[in-house]
Amino acid sequence: MAQEVRVNPADVMPQVLGRYSPVVVDRGEGIYVWDIDGKRYADFTSGIGVVNTGHCHPRVVQAIQEQAAKIIHAQANIFAHEPMMQAAVELTATLPATLNQVYFTNSGAEAVESAVKLAKMATGRPAVIAFRGAFHGRTHGAMSVTSSRVKVRAHYEPLMPSVYHAPYPYVFRSPYKGRAEDADLAYFAELEQMFDQLVMPDDVAAILMESVIGEGGYIVPPARWVQNVRRLCDEHAILLVMDEIQSGMGRTGKMWGFEHYDAVPDIMVVAKGIASGMPVSAVVAGRQIMDKWAPGAHGGTYGGNAVGTAAAAATLRVIRDEGLVGNAASRGRQLRDGLLAIQADYPVIGDVRGLGLMLATEFVTPDGSPNPDAVRRVIESCFEENVLLLTCGTYDQAIRIVPPLVVDAGQIDEFLEVYRRAVAAL
Ligand SMILES: Cc1ncc(COP(=O)(O)O)c(C=O)c1O
Repeated sequence: MAQEVRVNPADVMPQVLGRYSPVVVDRGEGIYVWDIDGKRYADFTSGIGVVNTGHCHPRVVQAIQEQAAKIIHAQANIFAHEPMMQAAVELTATLPATLNQVYFTNSGAEAVESAVKLAKMATGRPAVIAFRGAFHGRTHGAMSVTSSRVKVRAHYEPLMPSVYHAPYPYVFRSPYKGRAEDADLAYFAELEQMFDQLVMPDDVAAILMESVIGEGGYIVPPARWVQNVRRLCDEHAILLVMDEIQSGMGRTGKMWGFEHYDAVPDIMVVAKGIASGMPVSAVVAGRQIMDKWAPGAHGGTYGGNAVGTAAAAATLRVIRDEGLVGNAASRGRQLRDGLLAIQADYPVIGDVRGLGLMLATEFVTPDGSPNPDAVRRVIESCFEENVLLLTCGTYDQAIRIVPPLVVDAGQIDEFLEVYRRAVAAL
């Protein structure tokens, strides 16, 4: 039927959507999508890191269909229900024992808003420290803690007050002199200095960080820096809130990004990959923190939706049963090695970075500046060969490569051939 309704998207969809491709999609399966004319594309965006189980995984589809036929809206303040509880059990089973209660929400931004509110309530403190270059969403509170690019915040002021931004260790472009291996110490010193210049630690409810910066450029912080932030939080009874929205659900080759650093957060937010594309997100924390949230102090109509959480429970089971975290690690190594080989031949790629299947290549001009023009041309060339990619970074200086975690070795090899041709054509 879809073929009969040929609407120009621009007639009915506002330009604020800013679509990355002209594709009008019809269906998806695994790493592929098909447009309404039947043309196939390899989706190396995963719908912005969402379809980790691949498009329309049969077990997720079945869970959605079965639940939709039973009850769709089992409002969480009125009823408890099996899908929500099963999703919570499956989710907490992947986490340290200290993260044992789950509050379901509907989007990443809503989960971030909720986590900030929870941290304020649990500590009785007003302020939040977030990091420069981070992205946490587009609602007013989430936008206030975001600084990946000014466009997200511009012309919306006033924003939420008492938000302080510290530098995140983007070591590839570190302004600090000295050994690159010690750059994290300089970044950490700047964070500590905020307590001398800007805000008293006992006014800070939370330090909020992405375990790997996503939209802001796929930036992996040194483990020592994350551990130092964790220690700082402990010293001052500040809650560490980890945003695993883009980096979680197996994407980095571990179930959660924070596992790479041996630093467990007090509160975690998850969205995107949690339900394979159904609008589900969650705040996870220990009971002693959640108990500070009195009944009615927070809420929402749709959080914990029965169909969405059925999809979440199925997604978590698929990730476990199909070993997708391990696949992300091994296919990630293959992809990284291939990208490094391309970089060795083409210095226009200044940096290959990321973890697991959350990888990016940053493009540079001969003087080392960000090169968004090269990024645009490589993405266009790949699109000509039916491969979909997205940018990231404040200047669109990097291309993120985030296939579904079900991707196989042959598909990675095919992608690398396309990518090499695109870079060579610059
Ligand atoms: C790390 C991170 N946090 C929060 C969000 C916001 O999620 P949503 O778009 O579902 O509101 C995103 C979305 O890209 C994200 O990558």
